[in-house]
Amino acid sequence: MTLSKKMINAQVMDRNADLFRCPICLAEMAMLDMSRLVCTHNHSFDLSKNGYVNLAPQAHMTKYDQSLFGARKTVMTSGFFDGVLDAVIKTIEGQGHAIILDAGCGEGSHLSTVVERLTGEVTGVGIDLAKEGITAAAKEYPGLIWSVADLANCPFQDDQFDTILNILSPANYAEFTRLLKPGGLFVKAVPESGYLKELRAIFYEDKEQKDDADPVARVAEHFDEISTERVIYTFPLADGLLAPLIQMTPLTWGASADKIEEALQTAIPEITIDFTLIFGVNREETG
Ligand SMILES: C[S@@+](CC[C@H](N)C(=O)[O-])C[C@H]1O[C@@H](n2cnc3c(N)ncnc32)[C@H](O)[C@@H]1O
Ligand SMILES: [Zn+2]
Repeated sequence: MTLSKKMINAQVMDRNADLFRCPICLAEMAMLDMSRLVCTHNHSFDLSKNGYVNLAPQAHMTKYDQSLFGARKTVMTSGFFDGVLDAVIKTIEGQGHAIILDAGCGEGSHLSTVVERLTGEVTGVGIDLAKEGITAAAKEYPGLIWSVADLANCPFQDDQFDTILNILSPANYAEFTRLLKPGGLFVKAVPESGYLKELRAIFYEDKEQKDDADPVARVAEHFDEISTERVIYTFPLADGLLAPLIQMTPLTWGASADKIEEALQTAIPEITIDFTLIFGVNREETG
């Protein structure tokens, strides 16, 4: 008998129920009837039919909808992001039993790739505030824990994770240091000036975008043993990839239909990927 996706995901959640903390009252949680997470004060959260759990008590609207996550998945799983993930995996590899949280996981393809490629027993947990992203992730990648949740109020107990990934997503350092085990690894991927520069040239007419934030300094305020790695490469844009690429990136949001049409008509043989990976180790004393 083949298990439904919901049941596969319910089993992983059940085995890892100790990880969870009620987002309302912060109490411990347990899995009941393989169908819901319930805290000791009876706050109850049903698993969806695809086997994710919504632990964000208030409904949230985000700019990310289903078609946008579809476009993101098409691009991200085309090999476009492999160079970045290779560098991430190389650093995480060898940690032994690993519980990995992807904070702001979107449609889940990065976490799924990381978990699949690491050797040894690995548990992957993906959270995102966008229900459409988590729905897509739970449908496509059963066997991981998927939860709609706010990374500013993570529904997990202290000191649970070996690694936290934070790729192109906002950070909450108080939560990340609370959730990581002492000595656990934080990995942040931030885009650099070359990222999608071929699209920027069209949408910003080559004007440099100013970004004053210094993410390395921010990470260094909270973590030790900071290291960085710049990952730059170009990726050939196969037929059919330009449209989802234009759709997925906030760079083009708010652009006129004419501008988008102009971009679609532009021959872009390859696209630049340019990231800094920032690694930091959680301090022994947290909180
Ligand atoms: C640019 S996307 C990156 C998604 C994915 N990591 C990727 O690389 O494809 C940013 C993501 O952060 C999520 N996000 C924004 N604020 C959040 C919050 N407070 N809690 C959880 N996720 C959040 C958005 O819903 C979105 O999926
Ligand atoms: Zn509760």
